[in-house]
Amino acid sequence: MKVHVANHPLIAHKVTVLRDERTPSSTFRELIGEIVTLLAYEATREVKTVPVSVKTPVTNTQGTALAKPDPVVIPILRAGLGMLEGMERLIPSAQVGFLGMVRDEKTLQASTYANRLPSDLTGRQCYVLDPMLATGGTLIAAIHYLLDLGAADITAICIISAPEGIAALEKEFKDQKALTIVTAALDEKLNEKGYIVPGLGDAGDRLYGVV
Ligand code: URA
Repeated sequence: MKVHVANHPLIAHKVTVLRDERTPSSTFRELIGEIVTLLAYEATREVKTVPVSVKTPVTNTQGTALAKPDPVVIPILRAGLGMLEGMERLIPSAQVGFLGMVRDEKTLQASTYANRLPSDLTGRQCYVLDPMLATGGTLIAAIHYLLDLGAADITAICIISAPEGIAALEKEFKDQKALTIVTAALDEKLNEKGYIVPGLGDAGDRLYGVV
């Protein structure tokens, strides 16, 4: 498993505004989109491509196109949905699947309550969107789900990660070479309620309000 922590002043600036409890949902949603587009640039570094011929107004030349079948983008509901637009901006042709996962606030265990994914992901490149990598429970369950469907390689894009979550993923998938985590920030720790510290609070609530 590979971990890539973005080290870019523009991303750091935008994450700082996200953290601010005064940032309203509308700005929060916009910033999440912008950060995801910036992270997606790094996350898609190894997206599969094929050589193509292209005729410019001057001459014929060789270019590059995304290979078929297109990558699959999977936001984890609810908060991952806020990251979808930013990802689609970069890969508009991507197929989109959905995975609804919720964690029990007492046990912190993740369970699946909805899924809308291709039944066969053999050979597919998958990009999982989940803003907060806290205990890692949700992402571990989601990754197992995709591997069981045959996913060839998986990249998880997160906004903020906790060291505990990264460690849990590393333990679970230590031999999994085709797994990458790309995160905008790696924070200090989890608190006793499973929230990332300093974090940004509940990403779903910050995006869509408390329900
Ligand atoms: N989920 C969130 O939305 N925030 C956290 O800090 C941890 C999990």
